[in-house]
Amino acid sequence: MKTINLMFLLLVITFSNITLAAEKLKTNNTKNMASHMHNKPKLLFLAGSARKDSVNKMLAHNAFEIAKAAGADVTFINLKDYPLPIYDGDLESKQGLPKKAIALKKIFADHDAIFIASPEYNSSISPLLKNTLDWVSRSNEENEPANRVYNNKVVALGSASPGGLGGGRGLVPLQMMLSNIGVIILPKKISISKAYDKFNKEGLLINVENYQELTAVVMDFIRITTAIKNSL
Ligand SMILES: Cc1cc2nc3c(=O)[nH]c(=O)nc-3n(C[C@H](O)[C@H](O)[C@H](O)COP(=O)(O)O)c2cc1C
Repeated sequence: MKTINLMFLLLVITFSNITLAAEKLKTNNTKNMASHMHNKPKLLFLAGSARKDSVNKMLAHNAFEIAKAAGADVTFINLKDYPLPIYDGDLESKQGLPKKAIALKKIFADHDAIFIASPEYNSSISPLLKNTLDWVSRSNEENEPANRVYNNKVVALGSASPGGLGGGRGLVPLQMMLSNIGVIILPKKISISKAYDKFNKEGLLINVENYQELTAVVMDFIRITTAIKNSL
């Protein structure tokens, strides 16, 4: 009985030490990141899928939580809350921009940077993401230049897919499109393969290597966006 009690005590001490070490690491990271943030950038997180169980939504949300824990000023949006018709020039001429597109434009304009987790559809951009980015690129005010909200916006890209390449091929046309409309794209990206096995029921990224990789992408995202914001 004494041996069992002793073993239990040892287990409790070991577990407390791990928890303390993790907390210390988190505090140090937060302090380090916070000291870089003279002029804190506003970071937006979204996914190009509105599906209830979307792994890309989970990826964007994990990135959002990591940035929040590092002390960043963060917003997460679900494109399900911004339904838009397929872009149609006749509809735009008749009715102007849909209300939801105007709301999204305001949100994009209010943020310095966007983390986009994009699903890969037939090696390309998901229709939801392309349609959303197209509507947001349109002018709705007098003398407003096209793509105003994209100018000098920093974008970090990620993808998740049940396949072996993690949806990374879809980021190629997305990157090309974004770089042609004035966006600054971070070189470090993340593509999560076999993604249906990498998140738990609560949507937490439970694969350690993927989590570390995502943390590195998010830390770069904060550091580079802060540097660009302070130099503009
Ligand atoms: C029309 C369509 C095309 C797809 N093409 C690809 C593909 O080229 N590569 C890939 O890895 N997955 C492909 N998939 C599977 C998606 O990666 C998978 O449905 C994924 O869960 C979508 O992202 P989400 O979970 O964020 O909604 C495709 C799915 C659909 C519906």
